[in-house]
Amino acid sequence: MERWSGKVAVVTGASSGIGLATAKALVQHGMTVIGLARRVDKMENEMKAVKGAGKFFAKSCDITKEADVIQAFEWIEKNCQTVHLLVNNAGTMKCATIEEVKTEDMVNIINVNIMGLLHCTRQALHLMKKNGHEAHIININSLAGHKIYDLDESVNVYPATKFAVRAISETLANELKGKSNKIRVTNLSPGAVRTEIFEVSQLKPETIANFLYLEPEDVVSMILYAISVPPHVQINELTINARGAFYEKKA
Ligand SMILES: NC(=O)c1ccc[n+]([C@@H]2O[C@H](COP(=O)([O-])OP(=O)(O)OC[C@H]3O[C@@H](n4cnc5c(N)ncnc54)[C@H](OP(=O)(O)O)[C@@H]3O)[C@@H](O)[C@H]2O)c1
Repeated sequence: MERWSGKVAVVTGASSGIGLATAKALVQHGMTVIGLARRVDKMENEMKAVKGAGKFFAKSCDITKEADVIQAFEWIEKNCQTVHLLVNNAGTMKCATIEEVKTEDMVNIINVNIMGLLHCTRQALHLMKKNGHEAHIININSLAGHKIYDLDESVNVYPATKFAVRAISETLANELKGKSNKIRVTNLSPGAVRTEIFEVSQLKPETIANFLYLEPEDVVSMILYAISVPPHVQINELTINARGAFYEKKA
């Protein structure tokens, strides 16, 4: 990890869960971290007590709004020059069937999970390519981006957005192929992780109680692993789950 010390990381959704744990770990490893989320006060308060050689800057940014993302990356270029690591982590879901989900909820899930990730990826790539340094994009996907689980309640378009993220990760890796390329792409797919997403999603407590959980720090350890392998190694895909958690869909 030493080679990442002093480098610049952007973490979307750094106000809670996996994103917050990632921001904390990267600061502890000496990186300058810019957290992008809407709850800027929460990011600042949560990060206050974090000790480490790095720095943290909280930027208010709704990643569904391209103008917000462009503005955030303009600030990053002006104040931090570049980006070496982008962790596309912000994501959301809402429980409801496809028949019943509110249009505004469905649009928001698609916009956060797909469009927001694309807006951030595009701006980060501009800076990464301009500076020609070693760089890495990590897309926080989900096991739901690999197969459709037959849960007790439906999460409508969430799996479709995560399938899309996997396709985006693979497309991007193809776009970046070639010896002169220094940018790696990793698609990281956890099973259930103990975070706020289950409150946000409004899944029933009995559904949530049936999951076996990873902790956010377990996902962070995979991020640190993916970035710390030698620069000529690209980890394309990592899937992780809690020991004993379901793997196949219910019969
Ligand atoms: N928890 C799990 O079981 C699990 C499993 C597999 C994959 N994942 C994936 O892991 C990622 C992180 O989820 P989490 O579990 O850590 O959830 P979380 O605790 O609910 O965090 C979600 C983060 O996304 C941010 N966000 C949501 N909408 C946003 C927007 N419009 N603009 C900017 N930021 C936005 C939130 O920040 P603000 O509200 O402050 O904007 C928050 O920081 C997601 O991509 C999720 O799909 C989670």
